[in-house]
Amino acid sequence: MKITADQLRDLYLDFFKSKGHAVISGASLIPENDPTVLFTTAGMHPLVPYLMGQPHPAGHRLTDVQKCVRTGDIDAVGDSAHLTFFEMLGNWSLGDYFKKEAISWSFEFLTTKLGFSPESLYVTVFRGEDGIPADEEAVEIWRSMGLPDDHIFRLPREDNWWGPAGQTGPCGPDTEMFIDTGKPKCSEDCRPGCHCGKYIEIWNNVFMQYNKTADGTLEPLKQHNVDTGMGVERTICMMNGLETVYDTDVFQPIIAKIRELRTVVPENPEEALRSERIIADHMRTSTFLLGDQNGSVVPGNVGANYVLRRLIRSAVRHARKLGIPQGFTADIANVVVDEYSHVYPELRQNHARILQELHQEETRFGKTLDEGKREFDKIAAILKEHGQNQINGRTAFKLYDTYGYPLEMTIELAAENGFTVDREGYEAAFRKHQELSRQGEGTFKAGLADHSEATVAMHTATHLLHKALKVVLGEHCNQKGSNITPERLRFDFTHPEKMTPEQIQKVEDLVNEQIQKDLPVKREMMTLDEARAQGATALFSSKYGEQVSVYSIGDFSKEVCGGPHVGHTGDMGHFKILKESSSSAGVRRIKAVLEH
Ligand code: ALA
Repeated sequence: MKITADQLRDLYLDFFKSKGHAVISGASLIPENDPTVLFTTAGMHPLVPYLMGQPHPAGHRLTDVQKCVRTGDIDAVGDSAHLTFFEMLGNWSLGDYFKKEAISWSFEFLTTKLGFSPESLYVTVFRGEDGIPADEEAVEIWRSMGLPDDHIFRLPREDNWWGPAGQTGPCGPDTEMFIDTGKPKCSEDCRPGCHCGKYIEIWNNVFMQYNKTADGTLEPLKQHNVDTGMGVERTICMMNGLETVYDTDVFQPIIAKIRELRTVVPENPEEALRSERIIADHMRTSTFLLGDQNGSVVPGNVGANYVLRRLIRSAVRHARKLGIPQGFTADIANVVVDEYSHVYPELRQNHARILQELHQEETRFGKTLDEGKREFDKIAAILKEHGQNQINGRTAFKLYDTYGYPLEMTIELAAENGFTVDREGYEAAFRKHQELSRQGEGTFKAGLADHSEATVAMHTATHLLHKALKVVLGEHCNQKGSNITPERLRFDFTHPEKMTPEQIQKVEDLVNEQIQKDLPVKREMMTLDEARAQGATALFSSKYGEQVSVYSIGDFSKEVCGGPHVGHTGDMGHFKILKESSSSAGVRRIKAVLEH
């Protein structure tokens, strides 16, 4: 069924009106009562007090369309489905109906109003965890709709639990609805919830029965609520059989404007497409933020202001790549205002402010980039004088960090002037900087640097795991990423297939053996080449000759690493792998804990 965003909004609101819901207005993008989040991220957000029990003036059944901003996936923008701004359609029961009505109305709406075939519909439900039972009731209701068992997946809390929106508040198990695009599965593990693009989530029904308190406890809520959210862009994308959200009617006029302004066709068409999408996404979000009824967000250096600045600047950088002349931010904002004002009249009301702020930020950043260019020219002149033809990593990083000059732009500029750029050196400098700022962030969040005993032990366990994987599976297992909290570690590594239970057991045993041996952990300083010569694993390169620290755990493992680590492995606890799954093509992910 072909449909526009306008039609979808109307269909949705009319349908829930026919089921006794009051249509209410969506709220501002800037939450008024929640200091723990920067933006309204879901339709339920402005409704938190009512989900907690306060009576809503419009009654117990509500429906609306809510503009949302989510920045968690900002770096994924430009692919087929990630956006920083999106519209969410929602319906709520405030202590009124519960699972049966919510699910059967979702099914009815999807199949009779939107015309999705039940064969293309897949759902996930909460499988139970941490003493909270599996949601078999939801399973039964889906079955009673005629959905076959192989379209219903039971998944853990990580997948099928929603909320709270900030750090505290209403939350609960959910059931998510996916449309099968018909694409082939990416791996044998591919299922709804996999991010490969086969199954696209379009709707979520959350059964809000709990309140998460500041100390992390879940207490039962006074009332049973339903909170649902359907993504407008994704749903019309699926209904119209389109490849990406950027092909939908809401994005087409924006993309058309970008193409009209473009003066350069970059050699790599994929890169060009990505730039177009980033400009389209970021400019739409910036226009909505500046045009919000709240009016408090302007480009700046902290919080929501910083996010806005980052969005505009990123759009400007990508515009330069496409040869889009300065002043484009206003041209694109005008398209967004024209397109959306009938639904969001605040855009028209704040039109002048939108244009003025965009103009100011675009000009300011343009100057910064020009300064970067001058700095580049200076560096280039010096290098030429010395007969050199490579820009080292630190310089490239300085151009990025101080002048906002992204690596690709430095590389392009370098190539035009007959230079190459030490990409690896740049990445090393970048990582070093990231590590420092992550440590800084940790300090800020926890009130102290997160070098707690628990995280330090977890870090050492990561080294043991890395080595154990190489021993059990082969040397090809290289670390792709790692994330540590005091509760668990997550480790991504290259390996082409699912690990067998025996392999998992072997890896666990090998790690535990090293822990039991109470091996000493030793730190030495040396150059990277010396470290490599000694067989140390090094994740990223550093500048030639620079000293790096190398941690050895007995004779078992040797890795170049910044630390910190435990002194001896003895009291780390018992290492246990909780889960081994696919992370992306050719990359596996392990979640593990240290039990005491
Ligand atoms: N609040 C739920 C979500 O955002 C519906 O997915």
